[in-house]
Amino acid sequence: MPSVRDVRTKAGEEPITMLTAYDAPTAKIVDEAGVDVILVGDSVGNATLGYETTLPVTVDDVARHVGAVSRATESALVVADMPFLSYGTDERTSLENAGRMLKEEGAQAVKLESGPHTVDLTETMVQLGIPVMAHLGLTPQHVNRYGGYPRQGTDQEAAEHILELARAHEEAGAFSLVLEHVPSNLAADVTDALDIPTIGIGAGPDCDGQVLVFNDAVGLSEWSPSFAKQFGNVRAEMERAVEGYVSAVEREEFPADEHSHEETDLDSLY
Ligand code: KIV
Repeated sequence: MPSVRDVRTKAGEEPITMLTAYDAPTAKIVDEAGVDVILVGDSVGNATLGYETTLPVTVDDVARHVGAVSRATESALVVADMPFLSYGTDERTSLENAGRMLKEEGAQAVKLESGPHTVDLTETMVQLGIPVMAHLGLTPQHVNRYGGYPRQGTDQEAAEHILELARAHEEAGAFSLVLEHVPSNLAADVTDALDIPTIGIGAGPDCDGQVLVFNDAVGLSEWSPSFAKQFGNVRAEMERAVEGYVSAVEREEFPADEHSHEETDLDSLY
């Protein structure tokens, strides 16, 4: 069974690979490709549920997708991303919501978009047996504070604050840290300062690992951020297949003989 220890010990060794997945067939592909960590991101809101932001995503949404991903995953570590306001309001609710992902849905860890308010919570979760992946830099659940998705840590004070919070979360027991949309030299400094692995998204090459949203990586998203790279063009392939289906039905080429069967012993009903 994959463990957070496997991910922890990779810091400074081989690069850690992490991708999001939200459903069973995708998780199977991602797992069989050898990805180390599958994140059931709250990006499920934009990627599959049709929301403009991650804010409307509920605990039930994430739980349903974590269950699907866990059932299809054999080797990768499955991390459940805790949605907006499912943690950090009161401790009991935060623990119940996060605990549900491990107890009922098969995740091995949770990710929290982190800040000063998640240091003690991280410590409590870890003590109770809920491994925590921290997340600093751009935290999309703060979209209304930022007024969009701007780069973070771009001045000295903000960079020092990120480093300070990274250290505090490591000390609180987080097993890894996602750094999103921060300067690559800041990500390099944070990576050097920590023993736990950093996993970057839009944070340059010097993190211990990289993460992308699945839909961006395979070329399924209609729009993707400048820091994401498309490693395929799944959207074009899906369009080609759907157009092929529509045209085959309209031209009465589908179903063909091999897609139907006739029962010769059946009496005619007319
Ligand atoms: O929700 C998500 O997919 C994430 C990653 C982009 C790190 O938080």
